[in-house]
Amino acid sequence: MSAHLELTQLSKVFGAGPKAGRKALQQGHSKSELLASSGYVIGVRDVSLHIEPGELFVVMGLSGSGKSTLVRMINRLIEPTTGRVMLDGVDVTAMSTRELVALRRDKMSMVFQSFALLPHLTVIDNVAFGLRVSGVDKKEARRRALEALQLVGIPEVADHRPNQLSGGMQQRAGLARAWVTEPEILLMDEAFSALDPLIRTEMQDALLDLQRTAQRTIVFISHDLAEAVRIADRIAVMAEGEIRQIGTPAEIIDNPADEYVRAFFRDFQPGRLYTAGDIARPVDTPPVGEPVSASSLLEDILPRAAASEAPLPVADDDGNIIGSIDRTRLLQALAKGRDA
Ligand SMILES: Nc1ncnc2c1ncn2[C@@H]1O[C@H](COP(=O)(O)OP(=O)(O)OP(=O)(O)O)[C@@H](O)[C@H]1O
Ligand SMILES: [Mg+2]
Repeated sequence: MSAHLELTQLSKVFGAGPKAGRKALQQGHSKSELLASSGYVIGVRDVSLHIEPGELFVVMGLSGSGKSTLVRMINRLIEPTTGRVMLDGVDVTAMSTRELVALRRDKMSMVFQSFALLPHLTVIDNVAFGLRVSGVDKKEARRRALEALQLVGIPEVADHRPNQLSGGMQQRAGLARAWVTEPEILLMDEAFSALDPLIRTEMQDALLDLQRTAQRTIVFISHDLAEAVRIADRIAVMAEGEIRQIGTPAEIIDNPADEYVRAFFRDFQPGRLYTAGDIARPVDTPPVGEPVSASSLLEDILPRAAASEAPLPVADDDGNIIGSIDRTRLLQALAKGRDA
């Protein structure tokens, strides 16, 4: 099950009560004007968007642009000043505290950058914790927790304490813990930012796999361009609390809405982002010759492609040919990205 999420004219003004906040927004001052005149801070202003079931929706923007505020209004960790959040037709903004607790327990999980594992519990008990709270019996909770740990690739540390784990493993445990309750929506705030690049790519793959098999709706905050382009179905770019553009990575790169968005995506380098496997096309009869690895970056196969008239076969980790790349395909992808 995955959910449809609709945000309508969501705003947050910090430092003001709801009434004063609404009034300040109506006056239409810019963020800096309002700060100077009243000390109020606009966290988010007038955001309307919808997220489809099963979509991986990435929110990007510079530090302070309002990403965390926006995402925390979805589960009301932050109380909106104006606007509405609808989850499958149910008004989250009208929920009582009790309904909210149930919502966060059963439907929406959040994964933070800090892993927030309980230090005195083993990894498996950390993962099982949410299930236990919802009344699942101990044996069943541990069985499902172990399954989740297998999914994220760390079943072997089930009985360790969090402080015995590397940062990457703690992050996986955090993801397993969010995943195990089978939430319809996963909110992830810079969840992978603390990880080194290799583990980070692995976690992105793990997340994409999970999403593909379980079809969850995911709202993922990132300020890393490569990460966003790699995993997003659609990206929202925020600045000063407002959304500047929403679209697929290809749409935004091809048609940035303004200078801010253009500057954000200027460093986009398909050759360093996509792999041979990303752009290989299936073939009935594989071309002859030494295959390139599906995990090679396009940049790294360029010299070989340049020196070869014939298409290059592309092989997966087990040596199976999964397709081929010819020079035209490679050049198009280098110029425009995977979807070229
Ligand atoms: N509790 C708060 N009280 C007052 N102002 C706040 C509060 N939380 C956030 N803000 C302000 O709201 C704006 C948006 O902050 P937010 O944390 O949403 O940004 P962000 O995009 O998540 O940034 P980062 O990338 O650094 O995490 C900033 O100007 C910030 O200073
Ligand atoms: Mg933030």
